[in-house]
Amino acid sequence: MSIAIKNMDKQSLKELRNWFRKNAAELPWRLSDLDAPRDPYAVWISETMLQQTQVSTVRDYFTRWMKRFPDIETLAATTEEEVFKYWQGLGYYSRARNILKTAKIVAEGATQKFPQARKELEALPGIGAYTAGAILSLAFHQQEAILDGNLVRIFSRLYAIGILPVDSKEAADTYWDYAREVADSPKAYMHNEALMELGRTVCKVKN
Ligand code: ADE
Repeated sequence: MSIAIKNMDKQSLKELRNWFRKNAAELPWRLSDLDAPRDPYAVWISETMLQQTQVSTVRDYFTRWMKRFPDIETLAATTEEEVFKYWQGLGYYSRARNILKTAKIVAEGATQKFPQARKELEALPGIGAYTAGAILSLAFHQQEAILDGNLVRIFSRLYAIGILPVDSKEAADTYWDYAREVADSPKAYMHNEALMELGRTVCKVKN
């Protein structure tokens, strides 16, 4: 596996996309066509599960979840108890509680669809900047940024900004600036996910 991202110039981003096309793992929330827009509901569920849990664990949870709650209407009509059954073992149960709240808000809303604007998405329970960016880019193919631990690690190594504490406002702003640069492209959906994959499989915490 060789990929040399020097900085996020056009050529490096093209290499990143080529690398992803060759190396993207087959995961239940990914479509075989990596350029196809995804179901926002599936993006929301998978990315929420992935926030504090590893891919290897999320795989089976996601598959079971989608069998039981294939769409947001089905989910919105269920009980918290039932939702917890399918979340059991993933921890951070506030995530499950918020998922049900958001499902009801969206499914009972005027359009019964996910909003396609960051501000409106971030107003929903449990949806923060990361999840909003994931839904907007992976499902709606908007040029919207995401930032997770993988991207922070990659940017910090790439630009040698590891000295900044990640939890300071200054550091967060810096990392989001890099993230927005990467997403400033019609292929933002792929740049975002390819960087997460690169961080997960190559540019790891200890590698
Ligand atoms: N980590 C969180 N979301 C991910 C995704 N969509 N692809 C790869 N790693 C991830």
